Amino acid sequence: MKKMGFGIVGAGMISGLHADALRKSAKAELVAVCDVNVDNARKLVEKFAPKAPVYASFDELLANPQVEVVDIVTPNHLHTDFVLKAAAAGRHVLCEKPPAMSLEETDRMIEACRHAGVKFGVFVQCRIRAPMRHIKAALDAGRFGKVLRVDAIMKWFRPQDYYRMDAWRSNRRCGAGVTIQHAFHYIDLLQYLMGPASSVTAEMRNLAHPEIVLEDTLDARITFANGVRGFVQASTALWPGADVRIEVYGTEGCAVMEGTAFKTWKFKQEIPGDEAIRLCGNAAQATASGDHAALPSEDHQYVMDDCVDAINAGREVCIPCTDVRASLELALAMYLSDRKRAEVSLPIQEKGIWE
Ligand SMILES: NC(=O)c1ccc[n+]([C@@H]2O[C@H](COP(=O)([O-])OP(=O)(O)OC[C@H]3O[C@@H](n4cnc5c(N)ncnc54)[C@H](O)[C@@H]3O)[C@@H](O)[C@H]2O)c1
Repeated sequence: MKKMGFGIVGAGMISGLHADALRKSAKAELVAVCDVNVDNARKLVEKFAPKAPVYASFDELLANPQVEVVDIVTPNHLHTDFVLKAAAAGRHVLCEKPPAMSLEETDRMIEACRHAGVKFGVFVQCRIRAPMRHIKAALDAGRFGKVLRVDAIMKWFRPQDYYRMDAWRSNRRCGAGVTIQHAFHYIDLLQYLMGPASSVTAEMRNLAHPEIVLEDTLDARITFANGVRGFVQASTALWPGADVRIEVYGTEGCAVMEGTAFKTWKFKQEIPGDEAIRLCGNAAQATASGDHAALPSEDHQYVMDDCVDAINAGREVCIPCTDVRASLELALAMYLSDRKRAEVSLPIQEKGIWE
């Protein structure tokens, strides 16, 4: 079967993981790369797809009929324009997280893709991890009983050099800061498992990066509409960094995912298969806790392969932007809460950016 053509826009740090996923895929392939920094684009194709053309302009990439899906891997504040242009050109879209800097932009992108009849998925790929899929299925089946707590603990480290690599990494207006840039995945997971959220109280601080005017540490307490409480503790200040923990405690069971594996998978009523589930994932897999480059490509590949299947079957993608909007709203509510020094109710009225 002919592979579906993907065009990457943005050939920076994380693009190698996207290109690696496409190289390994049996369903999708990298057919073009666009970057204003043409050297970055050249390096990417040399390593992963030597025959793919390189473009400095997005319009040229869109003029290439081989590009069926646009894969947006630019800095956070630049996603919206590319999504809108791709949709207008009738291309399906997969976009890195966070989808945009505001709900207003997100709604415009969703509407443009709906209007054009194209798929619009977002890489919040932690949802795809095997332990997370089991947690979600067990929650949906009621196996945890009454859920008591759902927490995300991200004690990561990024050195000062990380924030100096590119100007956007230390500019809040470009989507920098531990909340929107790093913890977004885990805010998304809590929202995915327990949402919608009804209120949040958040406090942001800069503990260890005096050279940037940004939060490197977030403490947030979420109340979900179902009454469940959840905490997000997230930081890039804590050397040497530890794997993220997602913890679900219920009256009948407990699950703790650490990195990409289970630390705990325990139910008062065990069922056949629990032992196998307990062993799923890979405890040795690096998950970027201390090194921004240490990420596996399997989850991205899953999202890309699923996108091809969704296009062929005429169904929704596994992580549609319509679903991720609530996670962005929760993250934006955290910024509002920190600024107002007060609890913020959701849905929020502010549809613009948080500053
Ligand atoms: N899903 C994940 O786990 C994960 C991990 C890291 C980064 N990300 C996301 O991936 C995206 C990219 O992050 P990164 O670390 O690779 O950033 P980066 O700064 O290293 O790379 C961005 C690239 O985009 C290019 N670019 C900038 N403006 C452009 C334009 N107008 N047209 C074309 N190219 C342009 C830059 O030249 C650069 O090569 C961000 O949205 C980030 O949040 C996601």
